[in-house]
Amino acid sequence: MQQTNIASEDRPLAGMTYWQRTFGCQMNENDAERVAGMLEEAGALPVLTIEDADIAIFLTCCVREKAELRLMGQVASIKNVPDVHGAKRIIAVGGCIGQLDGPDLREELSHVDVVFGTHNLGHLVDLIERRIVTGEPQVETIEVNDGFASDLPVRRAKPWHAWVPIMTGCDNFCTYCIVPYVRGREMSRSIDDIENELATLADAGIREITLLGQNVNSYGRDLYGEPRFAQVLALAGKSGVDRVRFVTSHPKDLLPETIEAMAEYPNIMPQLHLPLQSGSDRILRAMNRSYTVERYLGLVHDVREAIPDISLSTDIIIGFPGETEEDFQGTLDVVKEVGYGQMFRFIYSKRPGTPAATIVDDMPREVLQERFERLECLAQESSLAENEHEIGKTIPVLVEGVSKRDAGILAGKSPKLQTVHAQLADGMRIDDVIGSIMAVHVDSATTNYLQGTLV
Ligand code: 5AD
Ligand code: SF4
Repeated sequence: MQQTNIASEDRPLAGMTYWQRTFGCQMNENDAERVAGMLEEAGALPVLTIEDADIAIFLTCCVREKAELRLMGQVASIKNVPDVHGAKRIIAVGGCIGQLDGPDLREELSHVDVVFGTHNLGHLVDLIERRIVTGEPQVETIEVNDGFASDLPVRRAKPWHAWVPIMTGCDNFCTYCIVPYVRGREMSRSIDDIENELATLADAGIREITLLGQNVNSYGRDLYGEPRFAQVLALAGKSGVDRVRFVTSHPKDLLPETIEAMAEYPNIMPQLHLPLQSGSDRILRAMNRSYTVERYLGLVHDVREAIPDISLSTDIIIGFPGETEEDFQGTLDVVKEVGYGQMFRFIYSKRPGTPAATIVDDMPREVLQERFERLECLAQESSLAENEHEIGKTIPVLVEGVSKRDAGILAGKSPKLQTVHAQLADGMRIDDVIGSIMAVHVDSATTNYLQGTLV
């Protein structure tokens, strides 16, 4: 049965409900806010469960096989969820799997109605509408240069925070990584466009922005032949927004002027995500990472010299094909030497179509697991050490809500992106302070958060 409740051209989804689930990276979180914005502008209302939704949207990730399998399982299982309002639920799959698989996705999951690629977000409402009107599945994954998602309507997950995409794509072709084949070549947004958006966000009272890009600090290479990320940082530094963050940086493009800009502007938060991937030169070469351990440690030294109290986080891949115990020991050594506040650890996942997928990979599962656990121990130790370092300080905390376990405890983020808990003062309502920056005296610390008292 077809939906017939199309209200008007302006609000083609009026009267419908939607639910969405997002996998993967911050790019998808940003896209999810645009999806919500577009659907709500088209008249659809958000609901909390898929059971109540006329439209279900999945934003997907294909960086590792596990996330891909999980998505496939979830989409397959919703076939059994009864439709609401007597009309077939519209299921739309976008993001990286949508882009990569295109029409093939429907061979496995024939109940999917709309497949849209990473470049086609802006057409989602049209695609849903066309599916409703024609009854035919819609697939759009063509690489169109239709601008940046920032031009689309938005409903922010956190009203005080804005994602600001400044570039997309990747030209690096790390041998394990599928991203360059999915997100395409590096494409930077014009600096005027970024400047305008920053001004609009500051005027709107946005407290925190995160500059986004697959290689955020390579910004501008496609436009100017060299990275000009430091210029974007300077604009953000002068924007009047309280907190500026950025992800993800590639070590090879971390230029001295970028470090200088980070040190110069107090609203650029003292936190840097700098993926190491491996602490073995042999493996880094096989990964095509274009830096050595020495160069990476040199960058860490330069960053810490300019911003002594900075917190570093990283990504590590365990079990890249051919990784020996000695290679892995190299990773442990670098991890110990740097002392990361946060470490994201991934077991290597073979991605068809990438160069590394052709390398014979026969690492026993137990070895991978054992390496994962050794790294896990180090990660916990260094997170705890970094958190304990804050004890006794009074720090500014951006309030994000209440603790999951206790509604009387406020939860927020420190400048270094640590979670901070503090008892709400008598008579204080969380709704009155959410999105504001409050001073907290840190009394104690665990691996996962700081505990303090409102000052
Ligand atoms: N297997 C495991 N981890 C991967 N990553 C990217 N590709 C793979 C893969 N094939 C990790 C990298 C990257 C992070 C986003 O995901 O560490 O920095
Ligand atoms: Fe993937 Fe490497 Fe590009 Fe990051 S820099 S998206 S890991 S190819």
